[in-house]
Amino acid sequence: MKAIKIYEFGGPDVLRYEDIPKPKPGPGEILIRIIAAGVNPIDWKIRSGYISGLPLPMIMGLDVAGIVEAVGQGETSFQPGDEIFAKVSIGQGGYAEYTVTSSTQAAKKPRSIGFVESAAIPTAGLAAWQSLFDIAGLESGQSVLIHGAAGGVGTFAVQFAKWKGAHVIGTASSKNAEFLRSIGSDEVIDYRNQRFEEIVNNLDVVLDTIGGDTFEKSWKVLKPGGFLVSTVASIPEGMPQKYGVRAKTLMTQADGRELAQIAAIIDEQKIKPIVTTVLPLADAKKAHEMSESRHTRGKIVLRVAEDPR
Ligand SMILES: NC(=O)c1ccc[n+]([C@@H]2O[C@H](COP(=O)([O-])OP(=O)(O)OC[C@H]3O[C@@H](n4cnc5c(N)ncnc54)[C@H](OP(=O)(O)O)[C@@H]3O)[C@@H](O)[C@H]2O)c1
Repeated sequence: MKAIKIYEFGGPDVLRYEDIPKPKPGPGEILIRIIAAGVNPIDWKIRSGYISGLPLPMIMGLDVAGIVEAVGQGETSFQPGDEIFAKVSIGQGGYAEYTVTSSTQAAKKPRSIGFVESAAIPTAGLAAWQSLFDIAGLESGQSVLIHGAAGGVGTFAVQFAKWKGAHVIGTASSKNAEFLRSIGSDEVIDYRNQRFEEIVNNLDVVLDTIGGDTFEKSWKVLKPGGFLVSTVASIPEGMPQKYGVRAKTLMTQADGRELAQIAAIIDEQKIKPIVTTVLPLADAKKAHEMSESRHTRGKIVLRVAEDPR
């Protein structure tokens, strides 16, 4: 089968498109024939060697949508032929024609959308869901500021927060303002020309997907007891106490039950994945270069095979 593999950490040129053996599912695992694979910033961070202790060589990619081809011993939640999406573990390989994963990391894909849109969901969708609901406990009527609202995580977060009944404020450059309003932002702050910390305050939740200055200036826009969740920054000791708020760094969990909840909301037409770029698997290098620009809207997805439906 074809896959995108790395033998060393480095720039986009270390990505190799090559033939490797097809994997076999172990107990509790499923073998997936991949139709589409989502691209995330974590993919190029792994490729670059930002994350220590990872083994080489490695098949790239974490997010897949496809069809169950076979199930391992004792696996009863899925059957061959099921159309699914999953967040696979690092090294299992999402940029490939086949992968295996624990069935607990997969769910039936939304019926109302295709494999390409489904592959856009796992990492970014779970990151947004877990940040807003599992960690910050966002409720209807609360206010939330989403930094990086036009990105992969942000476009899910804006829609989830709106679906929940929150007042949603998103930050993006001006070119994304109308787009953000169209997916549910009540207010949009142009981070290039406006200072969010002078515009909003007394917020219940801030979701930071940017880090640096953006993260540091976010403490003071929260109300007492508010929650700052960052997908990128560590929480400095003593800061939550200093501002009388709560804070946590997200570590996204590959949770098949939560993927099923997200699929249900998509099938109710409440939210939709925003896919702006679809490239063939062989163009993973181009996908990484685009993602590394840090200014793509929504998600990039690699098409691995034609949609069989
Ligand atoms: N901890 C975890 O478990 C976890 C999970 C998922 C993601 N992450 C991390 O979270 C970050 C975001 O992920 P992603 O998939 O959303 O990335 P992404 O899709 O690459 O984000 C791109 C977006 O960021 C916006 N942006 C860039 N600079 C900005 C700024 N200063 N203020 C506001 N918006 C800005 C861009 O909007 P404009 O074009 O308008 O500038 C663009 O739409 C990444 O670093 C990723 O690795 C962590």
